[in-house]
Amino acid sequence: MDKIIINGGKKLKGEVVISGAKNSALPILFATLLTDEPTEITNVPLLADTETTITFLNFIGKKTVRSGNIVRTCLSDKYKHIAPYDLVRRMRASVLIMGPLLAKLKQVEVSLPGGCTIGARPIDIHLDAFKMMGAKICIEKGYLKIFVEKELQGAMINFRFPSVGATENVLLSAVLAKGTSTILNAACEPEIEDLAKVLNKMGAKVSGAGTKKIVIEGVDKLHGFAHEVIPDRIEAATYMIAAAITRGEITLKKVNPQHLKSVNDKLKRSGLYIKEVKDTILVKWVKNLKPQNIKTEIYPKFPTDVQAQWMVLMSLLNGKTKIEENVFENRFMHVAELRRFGANIRINGRVAKIKGVSRFSGAPVMVSDIRAGAALVLAGLAAEGKTTISRVYHLDRGYEMLEKKLKNLGADIKRIKT
Ligand code: UD1
Repeated sequence: MDKIIINGGKKLKGEVVISGAKNSALPILFATLLTDEPTEITNVPLLADTETTITFLNFIGKKTVRSGNIVRTCLSDKYKHIAPYDLVRRMRASVLIMGPLLAKLKQVEVSLPGGCTIGARPIDIHLDAFKMMGAKICIEKGYLKIFVEKELQGAMINFRFPSVGATENVLLSAVLAKGTSTILNAACEPEIEDLAKVLNKMGAKVSGAGTKKIVIEGVDKLHGFAHEVIPDRIEAATYMIAAAITRGEITLKKVNPQHLKSVNDKLKRSGLYIKEVKDTILVKWVKNLKPQNIKTEIYPKFPTDVQAQWMVLMSLLNGKTKIEENVFENRFMHVAELRRFGANIRINGRVAKIKGVSRFSGAPVMVSDIRAGAALVLAGLAAEGKTTISRVYHLDRGYEMLEKKLKNLGADIKRIKT
């Protein structure tokens, strides 16, 4: 398994081009299942998760070919309706196979995502929505079977929580359902808007994406499309924090500042210099930063996917910070690892209390998930001495060319195969 070695303490300076958004690319790739016509998706980041999705599509029967950051799909074989354990277990976004296959084949069998029991977290919102659209659901031999006897019917769906994945799954199925569907309390993330844009290019009738109420009028058939994936706002935020934490100066290119308002706001309040011009953001450390409390919430508020990175920055500022995690119940796995660098963090339920320390010292650490991994890289960049990061396959799921981009900015970082 690969490891990343960082010798910290270098100021990062220069330009970095932000990749396409993983969380947009994945649902758009799954959307190709809704048409038999050719599709072309550009700005698809080269990541383990996009590779897994391409393998998944080919397994299901959609001919999918990647050439660099372009993914093309063309004529399909007859689709399989079974999503096996080996593919589903690799990433949670595999559950997005349910919507398109239910819409196209009227049936889908998905290996249960880890730790999931029907009716309870974490996909109850998806399943309740399918039920409202007339689907029947049962579990057999570890597989969730979802099917409709006649047609998938449009429905009025009121989410108990604005789940990103559930909003996407309803979009991916309701576009081919009979009649009109309305999602109330829908997720408003930019990635939802991007997916809706693609579906409309395919001939779907989706309105209101990006707001809490989305209306989808079902159509009979969907067509091919060409689409460029939006920039990855989470990757962008990670590089902005990298500039702040190393007291450097980074220009982010091919980014959408509109999608980063909450993070930019907090960084500006903390004293970082930020200048946005069209699709670039200049981030420059000019003075000591001040701690800023955050609460993670649904878009457009502070993203949970930047919580771990924020915690690292706050850990190195003079003063106290409170971080409240309101989206996921158990998203402080990085805290134990950050303590190895010397961070002073106390956890009480959903709240982390941080007392800033003057320095981190490099340490051997282990990644538990994508964003925790980003946090450990940031900590390593800021720490004195050597940091060895293991289980970096989590980082490969979410950060395109991470070492190369950081090296270009002046970091002392390398990957070793062990
Ligand atoms: C997506 C993003 C992920 C991000 C998250 C929240 C992708 C591929 N992943 O994940 O990076 O961190 O949004 O912004 O786009 N929940 C339920 N029942 C459900 C569905 C969700 O209880 O049926 C809960 C989850 O356990 C979690 C919360 O709702 O606590 C948010 O989950 P959700 O918005 O669905 O996140 P994902 O779509 O999995």
